[in-house]
Amino acid sequence: MNNMGAGIAITGCGSAAPATVLTNNHLAQMVETSDEWINTRTGMRNRHIASPTESLSQLSAVAAQNAIAMAGISVTDIDLIILATSTPDDMFGSACRVQGLIGATNAVAFDLTAACSGFIFALITASQFIRTGVYKNVLIIGADVLSRWVDWSDRASCVLFGDGAGAIVCQGTHESDRLLSFEMYSKGSQNDSLNLNYQSCSKPLVDGITAQNGNYQPVSMNGREVYRFAVAKVPEAIGKAMFRANLTAEDIDWLLLHQANQRIMDAVAKRLKIPAEKILSNIAEYGNTSAASIPLALDAAVRGGKVKPGDTIAASGFGAGLTWGSAIFKWK
Ligand code: ACO
Repeated sequence: MNNMGAGIAITGCGSAAPATVLTNNHLAQMVETSDEWINTRTGMRNRHIASPTESLSQLSAVAAQNAIAMAGISVTDIDLIILATSTPDDMFGSACRVQGLIGATNAVAFDLTAACSGFIFALITASQFIRTGVYKNVLIIGADVLSRWVDWSDRASCVLFGDGAGAIVCQGTHESDRLLSFEMYSKGSQNDSLNLNYQSCSKPLVDGITAQNGNYQPVSMNGREVYRFAVAKVPEAIGKAMFRANLTAEDIDWLLLHQANQRIMDAVAKRLKIPAEKILSNIAEYGNTSAASIPLALDAAVRGGKVKPGDTIAASGFGAGLTWGSAIFKWK
């Protein structure tokens, strides 16, 4: 595929979520919490939880098929699939499984791990392949099934997370480039704020040789630290991207943030002087779906008729790593 010097157009989106809904009242039966506490502190009311027969790959495949249908291309036109996830069905990666499920026989597929920043990082990664002319049609999926890894007895974290998948199709275009600017950051020194860590367990093999044969531990999070980090760094990342794109707050039609906490989204909008009505939020229904949250919210806003072709969207993901990033793009 040679498409040298192409710009980027985002031509389709799609999403999928498990049918099972876990409400705040359900959580109040499990841990010491209440609908009132969860809703006032986070804006969340429901989250969707994968059943034993639902997999990350299946959710991703449905989201992908919806995005490809909206883009109006054939699945065999897809050159590259990037699956942003921290909760693959297979530690070797799940992107190829998704490729197999949707029949994208001409694509190369790989996973990308950057927690809740994963979708933005995947979009930026995809844009490099498109701009250099290496690939023309790229499928980007953000998906997570964090319900597998939440400590369901820890009220400080278990109320926050839900499962889902969202996808977009990016295509090379010789018309105007719709990805206007981006920023990416990491801060490893704050890595211990949010983890899903491997814990080893010694397994003696033969005399003098012991393998480490452990397992992953549930999500652990310092909520206050992550909150402070997000409110400080996300406006900065979006502000820098706006500066690079020569845009002001008035030029932004929609603010599309990682759906971690409504209070974070409101604080970011306020700091950027973007009116609260421009925040795209579906946190009440899905909670924090990690890498899925941005494309899930985008898909709902596009299909609900809020976001229209030509609208300028300022998006930002942030989370474990710590990682954060922003991307400003025009829809379609
Ligand atoms: N129900 C009732 N009380 C609770 C609950 C709960 N579910 N959880 C905590 N509390 C209690 C605490 O124990 C504490 O009690 P204390 O004052 O007696 O010690 C009190 O409520 C206040 O706790 P805080 O942690 O200060 O509450 P805060 O207002 O900061 O809200 C929250 C907590 C919602 C987690 C918030 O800090 C937050 O949203 N942080 C950011 C999380 C985030 O953005 N993660 C994104 C990345 S996700 C990823 O990358 C995978």
